[in-house]
This record gives sequence, structure tokens and C-alpha cells, in this order.
Amino acid sequence: KSERQFMYKGTLYPSPLTSPENLQAVGNFEARADDILLVSYPKSGFNWMFHILNSLAFAAGITEKEHNAVWSINNHCVFLLQAISSRPSQRILGTHLHPDNIPKSFIEKKVKILAMLRNPKDVVVSYFHFQNNNPVIGLYYTWNEFFSRFIEGNAFYGSYFDYISAWNKKVNDENVLVVIYEELKKNMSEEIKKIAKFLNFTLTDEQIQSICSMSTFKSMKENSMNTHGEMGNILFRKGDIGDWKNCLTEEQSKAVDDKFEKHLAGTKIGDLLKY
Ligand code: PPS
Repeated sequence: KSERQFMYKGTLYPSPLTSPENLQAVGNFEARADDILLVSYPKSGFNWMFHILNSLAFAAGITEKEHNAVWSINNHCVFLLQAISSRPSQRILGTHLHPDNIPKSFIEKKVKILAMLRNPKDVVVSYFHFQNNNPVIGLYYTWNEFFSRFIEGNAFYGSYFDYISAWNKKVNDENVLVVIYEELKKNMSEEIKKIAKFLNFTLTDEQIQSICSMSTFKSMKENSMNTHGEMGNILFRKGDIGDWKNCLTEEQSKAVDDKFEKHLAGTKIGDLLKY
């Protein structure tokens, strides 16, 4: 197992997807003031928001080609990172990195950050299925083992509870917009309007409606062979709120509640993510 994972600055990462050299290069990535950064912990709706941002940018005329606006700076090799570095403005970038590990220049330049968060119980269930069905990562655990690792902060990309707490501290920063998976699922057009406003993208209601219909789970799953190849089947699993009820024991559900209480008691984000 040890050759399939490594620690970098105190956080665990999957070796088949990234490397210390890559993470070092990401750390030195130079942001531009007009960049937009999508941040999300794994399994919190990264690909969903990636798709929405691509569609918004295309409709707003930021990019000439559809599906070509957003670039992940997560798992690419150093060579690809260099290619992304030289892309013309306005760039939209995405990462799963913990807020403390985001390249310093994004923070210094107060780049606009869109943080996508999802309730932790559905995140751990989605993460378990993804990892256990993903031969590329090649690390398999029982549900109970995986759950314990998640609660202890030993899942890849670190503790989700630390992750949410860190963004919770930035929720009132002008350059940060928090989008909640469950809110997006329940009222996609209102949430997308908020996002477009935050990014200063001008779109008609018709354009927003068309983006909504292309961004439902059903529509993205149907199109997933084109967008994600074989990985699409693993990635677009259920896209539901509350699937955790089929998986967590009462004790496990309480363990998440206790962690939440410790990190987020009485906060707006804490309330929005309780499911
Ligand atoms: S990754 O691999 O970490 O980047 O995964 P990520 O994209 O963050 O999260 C995958 C989960 O998001 C669900 N998903 C959606 N839900 C609702 N609507 C849409 N359009 C959508 N697209 C992706 C996906 O199904 C994964 O959740 P689960 O619960 O496993 O189905």
C-alpha cells in the first residue's frame, strides 16, 4: 500500500494521481489577479461546478471554445502545469488542495475563490465508492476502515473537517463565495445567478436556464462518456442528497455530528451542511 500513497507537508496524497514534484510545482504556481479559483474537497461536486463554470465562461464570452475554460491544477504533471501557466487570461483554475496549501500568490492577489462544500456524510460515502471502484488509485478498504480513516483525517487530501473549518473562517471575505452542493441541487438557477454575479459574468435568463438543464445529474451522467470516458461511470454515481442513510451506522453518524459540533457549532456553514 505504501507505494500508492505519500505524505507531503503533513497531508496524504495518492501516488498514481500526483507526486511531491507536482505538488511543489503547484505551490509555486503564479496566480494572476483576474484568475478565478474553484476549490473543493474530493467528492464535493468539483466536476459539477467545473462543468457549470465552463458553461458560464463560454456563454459570457470569456472563452471561445466550449469546455475549455477551466483547468485543474491538481493532478497534472509539471509540464502541463507550465502549459496552464502560459494560458491567456481570464483563467479559471480548480484544486482539491487544503486552503493552507493553496499557492500563496492566490491569497496575496486576493483572487476570486469559489468554494464548493457538501455535507460530510454524503462526502465520505461518495469517497468510499469512488476509491473502491477506481483501479487507478488501487487502494481498497472495507467501509468501516474507510470511514475511520476519513474521521481521523487520513483520507487523501486530508481532513474534511479541517477543510470546512478553514473555509468557514473566510466565508465573509469579499473574494470568497461559498456554494453548498445541497443548495445547488435544490435551486440550481438561483445559485448559478449568484455565481455569475460574483464573477461579473453577464448572462441572460435564457442562458442561465440552458446551463441548468445541461448541468443536472441526469444530463451530465448521460454525457459522461464524452466528457470523462470510462471514468464517467464511477464519477457520476447517484448525485443525491442523503445517500449516507444507506451506509452510515447510527454510531458513525454520531461520530460525524460530534466532529461537526467541535469544528462548526453555531456557524452558518455548519447549519447549511447538516443533513
Ligand atoms: S472528485 O473526483 O473528487 O473530483 O469528485 P467530485 O466531482 O467532487 O464529486 C463527485 C460527486 O458529485 C456528484 N455529481 C453531481 N451531483 C449532482 N448533480 C450533478 N450534476 C453532479 N455531477 C456530479 C457525483 O455523482 C458524485 O457524488 P455521488 O454521491 O458519489 O454520486
